[in-house]
Amino acid sequence: MTQADALFTPADLGKLQVKNRIAMAPMTRTFSPGNVPNQKVVDYYRRRAEGGVGLIITEGTCVDHVAASGYPNVPSFFGEEALAGWKKVVDAVHEAGGKIAPQLWHVGAIRRPGVNPGGDEPGHSPSGMAVPGKVVGHAMTQSDIDDVVTAFAKAAADAKRIGMDAIEIHGAHGYLVDQFFWDGTNQRDDQYGGDLAARSKFALEIVRAVREAVGPDFPIIFRYSQWKQQNYEARLCETPEALGDFLKPLAEAGVDIFHCSTRRFWQPEFEGSDLNLAGWTKKLTGKPVITVGSVGLNADFLPNDGTANFREAEPASLDNLIERLEKDEFDLVAVGRALIANPDWANEVQAGRFDDLKAYEKDMLKALV
Ligand code: FNR
Repeated sequence: MTQADALFTPADLGKLQVKNRIAMAPMTRTFSPGNVPNQKVVDYYRRRAEGGVGLIITEGTCVDHVAASGYPNVPSFFGEEALAGWKKVVDAVHEAGGKIAPQLWHVGAIRRPGVNPGGDEPGHSPSGMAVPGKVVGHAMTQSDIDDVVTAFAKAAADAKRIGMDAIEIHGAHGYLVDQFFWDGTNQRDDQYGGDLAARSKFALEIVRAVREAVGPDFPIIFRYSQWKQQNYEARLCETPEALGDFLKPLAEAGVDIFHCSTRRFWQPEFEGSDLNLAGWTKKLTGKPVITVGSVGLNADFLPNDGTANFREAEPASLDNLIERLEKDEFDLVAVGRALIANPDWANEVQAGRFDDLKAYEKDMLKALV
């Protein structure tokens, strides 16, 4: 028995059952030459499953659209070769007793021409903007929108076909779906622009198409964030009421689990309550939720001064996290950098070997260990 026992109870999330409360947070690693996950990628995820993670959410993997990718060597989630690579990842994770969901991704206007796949294609986004007011790419037409919706649905169907246990839609951090949500980057005057309900139409179409493609019983996780990589202080919703209005249509469209991305899980989301974003999401929608942000670490992953991403951090106490988990504020806990530093983080924590946990260092991103 350790102080962290609550992390190691099984969870029934409706359509998804997991052996414990630990999820691996999606983390782009850019180690897939030719956009195909290779044996090193298989082994990387296998190590985390062997290390005790209940649910692996993969790095962002691009849907089949010409402008989906924003960085070199990101794995695709389409094409025979890439899907065969992912199938090996699925089998390895299952053999090790874990579950796995791919994070389906389109970067929107973050893309610059020259990244493959996609070649010279510019970024696509609601109004051609990655940051408010600055047009850098292509403003999507209705047929572009339809193509991307179809691409997400196709990826989800493929995920189910190759044995994935769920899918996660990347709706966070200022990438394409979030570029529609955010008024800073969505200045459309058609049905996809306007108030947050209208700006959600694109995401709702994706969720409905995905649901249609995977059937009623396959779990759909939706990751969203208030913050944007373009502006850490940005917020989609200023009040619990507004958050409820934003999330309920997504739940009705078919989202089963919300993954609420924050940089510090202990921060209250709104004044007058201790609940974090995940806590509020659970309370407002009744859906299972995943929290994330500096779990087991003493520094958040993006500094406020904008100097360097993925800040280094030392191991830190889990007491606050466990207290919140015991109160059912959230169902799962996603762990990011601590799992890069410690593939066996879950097993170490379960055994109470806190002193053996390594700090997260930036150089750890240089290899896929
Ligand atoms: C990330 N993060 C991230 N998020 C996401 O939704 N899709 C992604 O592909 C990535 N890529 C990524 C790469 C790397 C190297 C890091 C460190 C982070 C964010 C990640 O999922 C998580 O939300 C943050 O890292 C916060 O969790 P930790 O690291 O504080 O536990």
